Amino acid sequence: MARALALGLGEPALFSDGGSGRAGVLAAELGGEAVAANELIVERAEVVVLAHKPAQLAQVAPALAGARTVLSLLGGVTVAEIEAAIPGATVTRAMPNTAVALRKGVTCVCGAAGLDELLARVGIVVRLPERLMDAATAVSGVAPAYVALIAEAWVDAAVGQGIPAAQAAQLVGASLTGAAALLEARGMDTLGVRREVTSPGGMTARGLRALERAGLRSAFSDAAAAVAQR
Ligand SMILES: NC(=O)c1ccc[n+]([C@@H]2O[C@H](COP(=O)([O-])OP(=O)(O)OC[C@H]3O[C@@H](n4cnc5c(N)ncnc54)[C@H](OP(=O)(O)O)[C@@H]3O)[C@@H](O)[C@H]2O)c1
Repeated sequence: MARALALGLGEPALFSDGGSGRAGVLAAELGGEAVAANELIVERAEVVVLAHKPAQLAQVAPALAGARTVLSLLGGVTVAEIEAAIPGATVTRAMPNTAVALRKGVTCVCGAAGLDELLARVGIVVRLPERLMDAATAVSGVAPAYVALIAEAWVDAAVGQGIPAAQAAQLVGASLTGAAALLEARGMDTLGVRREVTSPGGMTARGLRALERAGLRSAFSDAAAAVAQR
């Protein structure tokens, strides 16, 4: 996630890691510098971004004492928990998705508002009450993975009908982006867009019925519940 955000922001950054050498790889790729200790980031950076695993907070936080502005990307960790771990810090909690790398991300945000403008450079920013952050993770945080799985299933189905894989991938990829643009332009009027392309008793209606029968809606609802469960 750190790589995606740094890529989208497009500015040199200071990176650190847990010892893997990843920070050096990111600095070489994206510009900036790998530092040997988290304390150096606190000394030199305006904003400290937490992009380690949520369970590593207790281990990472002591070195961040004195940090003034903290952006936490940690799934399932509250603003209050970060404030308790890094006393005195102004904390923004964000749940981005990896499309921030292309500046087409969706970032759900709660806590201090001072970084909203920065985050808006890499996509849309949606402010939510903190109690909805886990639910929002189940919607936009997971989106790249969901869409990748949907695209894969869709391409497989096309190949199953005899379309060569390369062309199937082209059809599905462009259909996904085109349909998403159409929905966005129509203010997310999903029913209107669906009705427009669904003639009574026609091919699209048969396809939609098959998707409903296969449990598409309950699959999404089960997935949201599974992700939001801590
Ligand atoms: N993946 C997503 O789509 C996504 C979306 C939204 C939010 N998030 C959140 O982003 C965070 C990172 O997720 P990820 O998928 O990017 O995980 P990841 O690929 O495992 O990256 C975690 C990074 O944290 C580094 N790290 C561990 N201990 C450290 C320490 N003491 N000091 C500095 N760096 C340390 C690790 O270093 P090493 O390389 O040395 O192990 C690793 O590079 C999680 O909290 C997750 O909830 C992820």
